[in-house]
Amino acid sequence: MQKKKCIAIDGPAAAGKSTIAKKLAEKLDYIYIDTGAMYRAVTYAALQQGVDLSDEEAVFAILKQSKLELKHIAGVQKVFLNEKDISTEIRSPEVTHFVSQVASYLSVRERLVDLQRELGRNGGVVMDGRDIGSTVLPFAEIKIFMIASVQERAQRRHLENIEKGFASNLREIEKEIEKRDWLDSTREHSPLCPCLDSIKVDTTGKTPDEVLHEIYQIVISKD
Ligand code: DC
Repeated sequence: MQKKKCIAIDGPAAAGKSTIAKKLAEKLDYIYIDTGAMYRAVTYAALQQGVDLSDEEAVFAILKQSKLELKHIAGVQKVFLNEKDISTEIRSPEVTHFVSQVASYLSVRERLVDLQRELGRNGGVVMDGRDIGSTVLPFAEIKIFMIASVQERAQRRHLENIEKGFASNLREIEKEIEKRDWLDSTREHSPLCPCLDSIKVDTTGKTPDEVLHEIYQIVISKD
């Protein structure tokens, strides 16, 4: 039997990482881990507790006090905070608006990276995020960096919001994505950027099945 690999999928907001990472994990019978959901969960917890999000220590204190778990139920990743399923709440525009700030804190990152490494310890994972190939799983056998035009990413997020019943404005989303790209790629700790050994995949104008096929070919070429 082939050794189960670690597959890192990084890239900017709404590049299609989670859709592809989920499908790829299913195809390979691997576990899918959405690390952005962990940063979102901390943001949600801090907002719930009315903490000042510009105060790193206060945000970190919330993380330390909270029980944060990723569970796979019928193959779907669910995020639990203190035993409550918050998988839908963490996708709200409010959480999306504040999450880059929370993700810029070193104390928060160090703790979440430890949890993520633990989840990837035995291989057989497709992990998506911003720093998976560079920091979380630097020894991952396969590193993909997914990109797409801002317009297409905004359009995808807009449709997702509508499906989830959230209020949505395309222009606002475009601005939000540009701002988040900028914050994520200019932050001091583990900024978003492709690593030297990652393979860039541009998803602009491609269907999820086309992107999945392209990445699957990369994966099997490394067997
Ligand atoms: O992928 P996402 O939109 O759910 O990610 C939410 C935020 O979390 C994003 O603005 C950047 C941050 N993030 C990160 O810094 N490192 C990761 N590994 C995953 C997400």
